[in-house]
Amino acid sequence: MCGIVGYIGHRQAYPVVLKGLKRLEYRGYDSAGVALINNNKLNIYKKQGKVSNLEEYVIGKDLDGQIAIGHTRWATHGEPSDRNSHPHLSASGQFAMIHNGIIENYAPLKAELINKGYEFKSDTDTEVLLNFIEDIKINNNSTLEEALRIALKRIVGAYCILLIDQEDPTTILAARKGSPLVIGIGKGEHFLASDATPIIEYTKEVVYVNDYQIAIVRADELVLKNLGNEVETPFITKLDMELAAIEKGGFDHFMIKEIHEQPQTIYDCLRGRLNAAEGTIKMGGVDNNIDKLLNANRIIVVACGTSWHAGLVAEYLFEELCRIPVEVEYASEFRYRNPVILTGDVIIAVSQSGETADTLVALENAKEQGAFIFGVVNAVGSSIARISHAGAYTHSGPEIGVASTKAFTGQLAVLTMMALKVAKAKGTISELRYVELIRELDAIPGKVAEILKDTTAIQKIAEKYKDASDFLYLGRGYNFPVALEGALKLKEISYIHAEGYPAAEMKHGPIALVDETLPVVFVATKDRFYEKIVSNVQEIKARRGQVICVATEGDTVIPGMSNDVVYVPDADEIVGAMLSVVPMQVLSYYIGTYRGIDVDKPRNLAKSVTVE
Ligand code: F6R
Repeated sequence: MCGIVGYIGHRQAYPVVLKGLKRLEYRGYDSAGVALINNNKLNIYKKQGKVSNLEEYVIGKDLDGQIAIGHTRWATHGEPSDRNSHPHLSASGQFAMIHNGIIENYAPLKAELINKGYEFKSDTDTEVLLNFIEDIKINNNSTLEEALRIALKRIVGAYCILLIDQEDPTTILAARKGSPLVIGIGKGEHFLASDATPIIEYTKEVVYVNDYQIAIVRADELVLKNLGNEVETPFITKLDMELAAIEKGGFDHFMIKEIHEQPQTIYDCLRGRLNAAEGTIKMGGVDNNIDKLLNANRIIVVACGTSWHAGLVAEYLFEELCRIPVEVEYASEFRYRNPVILTGDVIIAVSQSGETADTLVALENAKEQGAFIFGVVNAVGSSIARISHAGAYTHSGPEIGVASTKAFTGQLAVLTMMALKVAKAKGTISELRYVELIRELDAIPGKVAEILKDTTAIQKIAEKYKDASDFLYLGRGYNFPVALEGALKLKEISYIHAEGYPAAEMKHGPIALVDETLPVVFVATKDRFYEKIVSNVQEIKARRGQVICVATEGDTVIPGMSNDVVYVPDADEIVGAMLSVVPMQVLSYYIGTYRGIDVDKPRNLAKSVTVE
C-alpha cells in the first residue's frame, strides 16, 4: 500500500529509483512520482496512473542527480490525480517528502497551519505533515532532523516517510511507524524501500528500520536514532532472496508464474521440516514452544483476506486433530472489539506480507493483554514476524501478483504441519494416522504439479463463462474456505461479482439467485461430505444453474451432473484444500485475462494493506 524508494550514492539516482518503483508498483498504482536534487535544485516529476505514465512524462526533463526519492501511490487522502501524487513540496519549496500510511490527526494540524497562513496544493495528509515539519523548523530555528523528531511526536497514525532538503543533497531523512522500511547497505551508497525487492540486485545487506526510529542516510553513513535522539545500533541482516524470484521468468504475469511455482514453493515450505521416511516433522518455532501450543485453551487466528481463509482451514485442522477450540477473526474487527483474551489463549497470526496494518495492531493489542503470538508469515523480517513470540515462515518467496496464490498454499502447509505436531504432542492423533498424514502432505507438491501440467480444460471453462455477471462458489468442510477463496480470487481479478458459501447454507438464501445464467462452482472432491455435496449439486442442477465442479480424478458421478468438470488428484481431506484451490486460481487468472484485465494490478487494490 504505497511503495517508497530512495537512493543516495555515486550512481545516477533516477534509474535506480524508477526500477525500484516498477518493482513496488504492486503496492499501489494510482500515481507515481520522483524528486531529485541536481546542483542544489529540487526537481519533482509526478503523474497520475502507472509508473509507465511517469516514464513518458519525464522524457526530456532533467533527471540528473545522485539523490532521489520515489513513490507509487494507493490513494487514501485525496483522489488519484497529478496534484495528490507524491512527492509533495513544502510551502517554501525547500523540502520534498513521500509517505506511506495515514496521518489520522491531519485535520487539526491542517487547521492550525491554515490559521498561520499556509496554503495547500493537494488534499493529502502528507502535505500537511510536511508543512507541519517545516513550520516547526522555522519557529524553533532547528535542524530538519530536529523538526522531524518533534513533529513525529505529535503525529497519530502510521507512516513511512522519506524527506529531502534541496540545500543538503548529502542526506535522506527517513522514519517509520507501522509502515515498512528497509535500507540496503552498499559501498558508498544506500538504498531505501518499502520492501527488499528494489534493493536485491545491488546488495544483500539490509537493515529493517523499527517503529519510532529515524534514519539519517548519507552515501557512506547510516545513523539510526529513536525519537528521544539517542543513537541505536543498526542490525544488519543478509537477504535470502534471488533476483529471479522477483522477475516474470517468461510468464505473462506474476500471478500465473506464482501459481505455477506452487509445487516448488510448497516443497520449499516442507523441506527440512517434514521427513516422510522417518515420519517426523521438525519446526523450531513449534518445538520450542510446544507447551504453549498444546496447553492452549483456545486458539484465535487473526488475519485478513486470503490469509483469513487459510485461518478457516486452520480452524478445521486444529479442532479436528488437536481438539483445541479455534476462533477465526478478521483482524480489523478483532482489534476494535475489545476482545476477551484469557490466560492460555494462543493467537496465530497469518499474513503473507507481515505488514497488514489491522493484523499488526490486533496482535500488538493481544500481546499487551498477555496472549502468546505465533506468526505464520511469508515476508522474512516483516513487522508481524518481528512482533510474534514465535513463528514459522511459509518460505513461498516474494509474492508480487496482487492476488495471493502461492502464499495461501504455503500457509496451509505450515498450518497443517503445526496442527499435526501439536496433535502428536497432545496425543490426540494415533501414530498410524500421523504417519499417514505426513505422507499425504509430502505428496502434495507432486500432485499440484500434476494439476498444473495441463490447464487447457480450465482455460476452456474460463473462455465459456468469462462474460457471466455473477458466480456462486460452494464447498463443505475443508473445501468451504476454498470456495470463499475461489470467489475472492475471481472478484479481485475479473471484477465479476462472486460469492462463496457453505454448500448447504445456499438453501437459506443464495439459491434464489440460481437460474440458467448463473455459473455455480462446486468444490466437490471425495471427502467425508461427498454424498452431501452431490445432493447440493443436484439441487442447483434442478434449478438449471450452470454447474462447474472441481472433482477427484476417477469420479464417475459428478461428470454426469455437471456442465463442466476439472479434476484434482485424490488426497486425504486434511491436505486436500492445497489441491482444490489450484483450479480456482487458474480459472480466475484466465477469466481475468480474457476480460482484458491487468491481473497483476487490478483496480483499487494494493498488495500490502498498511492502512486500516
Ligand atoms: C487476496 C489478497 C488479500 C490479502 C490480505 C491480507 O488475494 O491478497 O486479501 O490476503 O490483504 O494480506 P496479508 O496476508 O499480507 O496480511
